[in-house]
Amino acid sequence: MSLISQFRAVRRCGTPLVAITTPDPAATIASIRKSFNGTAPPIVHWDIVCGLRGLNKEGEQALAEKVTEPSSLISPVDAMIACLKMPTQTVAFFANMHRVIKEQGVSQAIWNMRDAYKANMRMLVLLCPTLDMPAEIQQDVVVLDEALPSVEALAGIVKDVYRSAEVPEPDEPTLAKATDALCGLAAYPAEQATAMCVMDCRKKDGFDSARFLDGLWDRKRSMIEATPGLSVWRGGETFDDIGGCANIKTFMRAVLSGNEPPRAIVFQDEIEKAYAGIGTDSSGVTTEMNGTQLTWMQDHDAKGMILLGPAGCAKSMFAKATGNTAAIPTIQFDIGGMKSSLVGDSGARMRQALKVVEAVSQGRALFLATCNSIGVLPPELRRRFTLGTFMFDLPDFDERQAIWRIYLRKYGFPGTTIEMRPTDDGWTGSEIRTCCDLAWRLKITLREAAAYIVPVSKSAADQIQRLRDQASGRFISASKPGVYQKESTELAAPAGRRFAEI
Ligand SMILES: Nc1ncnc2c1ncn2[C@@H]1O[C@H](COP(=O)(O)OP(=O)(O)O)[C@@H](O)[C@H]1O
Ligand SMILES: [Mg+2]
Repeated sequence: MSLISQFRAVRRCGTPLVAITTPDPAATIASIRKSFNGTAPPIVHWDIVCGLRGLNKEGEQALAEKVTEPSSLISPVDAMIACLKMPTQTVAFFANMHRVIKEQGVSQAIWNMRDAYKANMRMLVLLCPTLDMPAEIQQDVVVLDEALPSVEALAGIVKDVYRSAEVPEPDEPTLAKATDALCGLAAYPAEQATAMCVMDCRKKDGFDSARFLDGLWDRKRSMIEATPGLSVWRGGETFDDIGGCANIKTFMRAVLSGNEPPRAIVFQDEIEKAYAGIGTDSSGVTTEMNGTQLTWMQDHDAKGMILLGPAGCAKSMFAKATGNTAAIPTIQFDIGGMKSSLVGDSGARMRQALKVVEAVSQGRALFLATCNSIGVLPPELRRRFTLGTFMFDLPDFDERQAIWRIYLRKYGFPGTTIEMRPTDDGWTGSEIRTCCDLAWRLKITLREAAAYIVPVSKSAADQIQRLRDQASGRFISASKPGVYQKESTELAAPAGRRFAEI
C-alpha cells in the first residue's frame, strides 16, 4: 500500500497521532496535500526555526483567530499546546521530530494531544528521516514509512529533466542504467543529481550519455557514503585477479547469472568483530544492532554467504571482486561505523543503513561476510547467511602457481622459472604478493625478498590448525567441489628448511 493510501486509511479512522519516516518531507507533505483534492482541512506546519505557520488559507485563518503570534512558538511543546486550539479536522505537521522528541516534555505534549485530537478528526503528523520512538508513546503513534521512489517514478524524473533541458529523450538502455544509478535516492536529490549531470553533459554536437551515467554514479556513491557505516568499494579487481578459489568462483558465477541475481553486494568485513559481545554487552547496543540486521535479513529474504579462513587467503578480495565481476555496486557495511555515542541512535542508524541497502539493491542484496574465526559467530547469524559458509584454506600447490603467475605478471618479472622462486609451502596469496612487491620495491630477487616474510601459517600455526579442525566436514570448500576436508599434512615445513634452499 502506498503511503498516501495508508495515510488516507488512518485519517478515515480518525487516528490522531501519526509519524511518517520520509527521506523527503517536502515531497511527502505535497503529496498528502494533493490527496485532499479540493476539500482541504486547515493545515499548519511547525519547525524549530519558523515556529507555527499556516500551509493553506484555512490553516492561516485558524491560526490568526486562535493563536497569537504563532511564529514565535519555537518550542515544540508550546506549539503543540497552541495546536490544541485548532479547529476540527486540522492537520498539523511537525518537522524533524527526531531532533526534539526526546526533549523535556515533548512526548507528554504529544500524548496530551491524543484524546483531544481523536474527538474531532484532527491529526498530528510527525515528520522525520528515522525515528526512535520514546517508549511512553510507542503504543499511541502510528508509524508510516514513505518508501523511496520506484524505478518507474525515477524514470519519470529522468525524462522530465531531459525534456526541460531540451535534450532528446534517452534510449531504453540509458534510461535503465540511469534509474539503476538513481535507485536509493529520494525524489528531490534524484532530480537534482539528474539535472546537474544533464547540464554537464550537454554538448554542441550531442549528448554524452556515458559521462552522464558516470556522473550519476558519482553522486550515488556520495549519497550512500553520507549514511554512517556505509561506503562504496572503488577498487577494480575481478575474479580473474584471484588465483585459485575455483569452487566458490563457479558457485558465485552461477548465482550472478541465475534467477533473481543480486543487484548489490553488501560486504561485511571481519564480521566476528561486530558480533563479539552479542548478548553480553552491558548497554545492549551490539545485541540490538545485530538483532536488527538478522531480523531484517530474514524479513527481506536477503541472501548471504560467510567467507571463512585464515588471514590473507582472498576472502575480502573475493567479496570486493564479486561486485566488479557482476558490474553491480559493492557496499561496505561497517557496524562499528554506525554506532553512535547516544544509546538508541545506533539502532536508528542500522535501520537507516538497511533502508539504503534495500533501495540501492532494489530488494536484492547479497551479503558477503568475511570471518577469520568461526568460534565467536552465533548460530543464528550463520543461519541467516543462507547461501552457506565457505572455507578459504591456505592455497594448495596448483593455486599458488596461479597466484605467482598473476603477481609475476603484475610486478613485471617475466620469465621467472619455478627455481627462481622461494619455497612457498604454507604461503597465502597475500604473502606471494608481498614477496613480489618487496622484490620489485627493493630491487632484490624473489628469494632474497622471501627472507623478509613470516607466513601466517608459521606465526599463527595453532590458530589456523584449530580453524581447519573446526571447519573440516562442516563447510563448503572455496577451492574444490564439495565439503571442505582438512589436509592431513602438517601446516608448515619445518623451520629452517626454507632457508637451506636459498
Ligand atoms: N588467491 C589470491 N589470488 C590473488 N591475490 C591474492 C589471493 N589471496 C590473497 N591475495 C592478495 O592478498 C591480499 C590480501 O588478501 P585478502 O583478501 O584481504 O585476505 P583475507 O582473506 O584476510 O580477507 C589481496 O588483496 C590480494 O592482493
Ligand atoms: Mg580480510
